[in-house]
Amino acid sequence: MTKEELVKVAYEAQKFSYSPYSGFQVGAALLTKGGKVYTGCNIENAAFSPTNCAERTAFFKAVSEGEKQFEAIAIVGNKAGSPKEQWEFCTPCGVCRQVMLEFVDPENFVIYAGKGNEIRCFTLKELLPESFSPSMVSE
Ligand code: THU
Repeated sequence: MTKEELVKVAYEAQKFSYSPYSGFQVGAALLTKGGKVYTGCNIENAAFSPTNCAERTAFFKAVSEGEKQFEAIAIVGNKAGSPKEQWEFCTPCGVCRQVMLEFVDPENFVIYAGKGNEIRCFTLKELLPESFSPSMVSE
């Protein structure tokens, strides 16, 4: 699957965003090493803190179905109804970066941030340097 295709799936998932409070709609598409794609959207809550980001939705769906090997994630996000010229590349929040680190090799896992037809690529290591990693805790 190409990065363009993965970003397209993220845009499909964005349609399901439940974001009545922020109006910021996010979609994610997580590609496993086996070639399966798990999608996610942000899911907000009136109490605010239970809100789940699109990336974590995708990861938790995948992990809860037994997946542990991940290749890449595509993320897109923008304010509902905002003109394309105002869109930004949607890179994952700090909490989502830490969640990703739990399940991937940071030097190889790729994060695609989409903005319309443009795509920026990062490794998790670039977005979360000097991280607190699982190996520091596990025996
Ligand atoms: N959000 C995500 O889904 N992913 C991110 O990486 C950044 C933020 C969501 C959370 C909230 O519903 C809305 O975007 C505004 O912060």
